[in-house]
Amino acid sequence: MTLSRILTIGEVAARGEIATSALRYYESVGLIRSSRNTGNQRRFERSVLRRVAVIKAAQAMGISLDDIRDALDRLPDGRTPSRRDWERMSAAWKSQLDERITRLEKLRDDLSSCIGCGCLSIDKCRLFNPDDELASQVRGGSKLISQSSGAKTDDRNDSHGDQ
Ligand code: FES
Repeated sequence: MTLSRILTIGEVAARGEIATSALRYYESVGLIRSSRNTGNQRRFERSVLRRVAVIKAAQAMGISLDDIRDALDRLPDGRTPSRRDWERMSAAWKSQLDERITRLEKLRDDLSSCIGCGCLSIDKCRLFNPDDELASQVRGGSKLISQSSGAKTDDRNDSHGDQ
């Protein structure tokens, strides 16, 4: 059976494996568009299926609906994303995903030092002090102290020999 060019919301939901409530929400935030028939029922162009597929794939990557809408809005004349469009979008979103993974890995490492600790100290806990400001101050302080006492602090001091 071939699919009609114009689809009901139920047909889009079934074909796109998505809830009708999600489709109504996507429409309310401008991710997809429909027209209305004489009975005021939503009707979608068949191309909405590809748009829904892109939205679902992007959401699976953790991309926000705002970012997805921005990317779709940048397509000329609100066209359905082509294969090439999707390649560009997914490449950009992969970078975001990589950055998020890096942040999450750091968070996981910081959390590891909390397990079994329980101090919840603003001064010591990296989860409260993510930039580790105290630690960097302490490191800087240690360097100043060792420099003023004449101790060698790094290789540059060795190569210049005038410290
Ligand atoms: S709870 Fe002690 S270091 Fe985070």
